[in-house]
Amino acid sequence: MDGATLHSELDKKTRRSMKKPKSATFPERQLEIMLEGNELEIPSTKHHLIVGDSRHMPEVADSSVHLIVTSPPYPMIELWDDLFETMGCFDFNAMHSFLATTWKECYRILIDGGIACINIGDALRKIDGNFQLFPNHVKVIENCEAIGFTSLPYILWKKPTKRPNAFLGSGFLPPNAYITQDCEFILIFRKGSSRPFPPKDLYRYASSYTLDERNAWFTQIWQLPGARQENPQLSRRIAAFPEEIAYRLIRMFSVIGDTIVDPFLGTGTTMKVAMKTHRNCYGYEIDAQLIPTIKERVGFEETRKSRKHGSSVKSFNITKR
Ligand SMILES: C[S@@+](CC[C@H](N)C(=O)[O-])C[C@H]1O[C@@H](n2cnc3c(N)ncnc32)[C@H](O)[C@@H]1O
Repeated sequence: MDGATLHSELDKKTRRSMKKPKSATFPERQLEIMLEGNELEIPSTKHHLIVGDSRHMPEVADSSVHLIVTSPPYPMIELWDDLFETMGCFDFNAMHSFLATTWKECYRILIDGGIACINIGDALRKIDGNFQLFPNHVKVIENCEAIGFTSLPYILWKKPTKRPNAFLGSGFLPPNAYITQDCEFILIFRKGSSRPFPPKDLYRYASSYTLDERNAWFTQIWQLPGARQENPQLSRRIAAFPEEIAYRLIRMFSVIGDTIVDPFLGTGTTMKVAMKTHRNCYGYEIDAQLIPTIKERVGFEETRKSRKHGSSVKSFNITKR
């Protein structure tokens, strides 16, 4: 069966299976169907946590990665002041130069046609009595374009606001009230031109999304709740993004068996979802305090032994620099 026929078979079978109680969700259901027909094996995947600074990623070869999914520390947001200060960055531009070193490494490791998805929010801050916006998304776009990335249409992640009636500024009196900042950006960049595939590539077809998924995902505003931020193992807030964001981006911009990198791994959301969707993953995290949380979230112990779906194996390594 070639890719196109497999795709239409999958579509029919998937539609039929949607009427029954679901035994599994995408992409597991599609993979089960393929395995029934002995068309493909689910690939074994590798997941590598590097406890170190992603401004240098020597563990990852040039042009070997298909997708970057990440969320860096946000410049000018108080939560990240200490981290930037430790790195010798005391102003907006210096903080972005620090991040840009990682964006340059991302460019090096991506294949031609590889995609980088960067989630970032702007900052609001009073400096010398002057309340102002620090447009982080603009700086990331400027720096990534200077590195050589091509900008693609981005997503606005609209979070439900916890205080819908809260005003910043002069309340009901014009003109000194400020817009509530309830959106973050998911910036999307590509290295080079569109990624080529062999005709009717089976893994690509097996990675397709449904009509409903396409309609919900390829739209510019995503209304999604944030992730829970409390973690009893940690002394500070973690600013994790919700799994749904990583899941959508991975399904939208990569295929089964691809390699994904998160250079600012945090609690391991990207790695957890990459594992679930049968993609390889490298995650960089500078803060060793997060290792137990990452291990727990990706299921380190179970993963080492798991042999689900026939011959597929998921392995997990940790390197401490
Ligand atoms: C916004 S958080 C990422 C949250 C992550 N998306 C999650 O879901 O948990 C940014 C993370 O980057 C880490 N970090 C900051 N600078 C780094 C660097 N140069 N290399 C690797 N990790 C870094 C921070 O310690 C922090 O955990």
